Amino acid sequence: MDDSPLQVLTVATAPYPDQRHGSGGLRRMVNVFQTRKHYLHNFIQSIFSSIDLRDRQGSTVMVGGDGRFFNQTAIRVIVQMAAANGVGRLVIGQHGIMSTPAISCMIRKCKAIGGIILTASHDPGGPNGGLGIKFNTANGGPASEAVANKIHQISRTIEEFAICPGLQVDLMTLGRQTFDLENKFKPFTVEIVDSVESYANLLRNIFDFAALKELLSGESHISVRLDAMHGAAGPYVRRILCGELGCPANSAVNCVPLEDFGGQRPDPNLTYAADLADSMRDGQFDFGAAFGGDGDRHMVLGKHGLYVSPSDSVAVIADNIFCIPYFQHTGVRGFARSMPTSAALDRVAKATKIELYETPPGWNFFGSLMDAGKLSLCGEESFGAGGDHIRETDGLWAVLAWLSIMATRRQSVQDILKDHWLKYGRNYFTRYDYESIDIDTACEMMEDLEIIITDKSFVKQRFAVEDKLYQVEKADSFEYTDPVNSSLTRNQGLRIIFSDGSRIIYRLSGTRINGATVQIYIDSYEKERLSEDTQVMLAPLATIALKISKLHHRTGRSGPSLIT
Ligand code: G1P
Repeated sequence: MDDSPLQVLTVATAPYPDQRHGSGGLRRMVNVFQTRKHYLHNFIQSIFSSIDLRDRQGSTVMVGGDGRFFNQTAIRVIVQMAAANGVGRLVIGQHGIMSTPAISCMIRKCKAIGGIILTASHDPGGPNGGLGIKFNTANGGPASEAVANKIHQISRTIEEFAICPGLQVDLMTLGRQTFDLENKFKPFTVEIVDSVESYANLLRNIFDFAALKELLSGESHISVRLDAMHGAAGPYVRRILCGELGCPANSAVNCVPLEDFGGQRPDPNLTYAADLADSMRDGQFDFGAAFGGDGDRHMVLGKHGLYVSPSDSVAVIADNIFCIPYFQHTGVRGFARSMPTSAALDRVAKATKIELYETPPGWNFFGSLMDAGKLSLCGEESFGAGGDHIRETDGLWAVLAWLSIMATRRQSVQDILKDHWLKYGRNYFTRYDYESIDIDTACEMMEDLEIIITDKSFVKQRFAVEDKLYQVEKADSFEYTDPVNSSLTRNQGLRIIFSDGSRIIYRLSGTRINGATVQIYIDSYEKERLSEDTQVMLAPLATIALKISKLHHRTGRSGPSLIT
């Protein structure tokens, strides 16, 4: 075997204009990475170059992903480039798989300067699906806007990248591998790890595992159905919920990560996790949960498939926060939600006199507040919720939070939800997604809409549908000033707020891989009518939203691709 030091090469390249690190990193169809020369290399080099050389040299970086097609190929390139860029140690999930919350946990635990996460979250996988590359920084959370902008700037002028093409890593075998390079850097090490134990340990310090075990496998235990949707959450669900907390093995399904997620979209909502909802309909299970492809998102269902909307989920957790021992110790510093998320959480914040922050979508905004000690619990309507134990949304954490509430209150999901609405009233919420819209059409629509809604005459305008009358109270393009570092983030969605507090919000998704996705978020508050059908309740506002935007006319669509 040749044991001479590995060669480090500098390879000339040409920039691409479109390598923007959005709220979910850089997401493209797999074939973009396969066919555009050095597309992957350019972006990885831009990430490494965004880190000051003094910080990078000898540093630790985490790498892992959701197990989708092309991840391992990409990881092998990342290893070769990390070595050539002076990184001292890479810690990688076995087979390249690690859930996003576990990566966040491990970045913090290993004092890494950051992590590269190979995930396109809820977007489809397989050879015809998407690929995503996300950079998380030393706090364990997604790159801030400033770091994302720096990466983008570098990618637009990049001329070369560094790589060790001869370095062949074994991603399958647990343990340490050491490589000698011909440059002056110390030996480069790669550690292949099983992150489940570290992550489980974190959760053990947050929740009362004995109480959870009693709930899930004690004498009068509840029965649960957990669907990992063939994503990265599977191994964690198996080992923590089944192995340690005693759920029967057959209560956890789709726990083997697959490169194409079994042909399904790993998006935990009623459309893509329909199998879970179906299996719960007959009342066999008391509690159900589905997890997103990289284990960050979650959907909670009660008996007979009772749906808990994500906006309600975080509000319920907030109202019962002291059922979670971690918060008994840390206290509660603040609550936060993304702007499109319904205001259910605001009502809890008001009642408990806890500060409430309203941020743009994307966990990086929450991370900034958490780092400053201002935030303990947050959530997004996009099926994300989490605490300040890490800096990512955390599906398993949210499920254990719900189970902790059930264990403490000895109530069903249905009773907990009903009680919540009785106490606070109900925020009905829905989101319409129009996917794969031509980008120019979508941008023009948003530009025209902004002109319409920000015109002075728009405020006080009335819209009548059937017997409902709505008067505009406020309309704007949402912008956010981070209370910690005063950075301003603009163009985060067009808001129409009516005098009764109902809202219509229009926004372009920042994470889609194909064309543009126009999202319309609709919510309204009801104090008395608590058990109505969400779509029926929000139908008048949906009609108004489509009328103002002329969305169907402009796009030729007759309805949304997805309703959540
Ligand atoms: C979506 C969600 C947002 C989440 C982000 C990253 O972004 O809406 O809440 O933080 O994914 O998971 P969007 O596609 O809407 O820009």
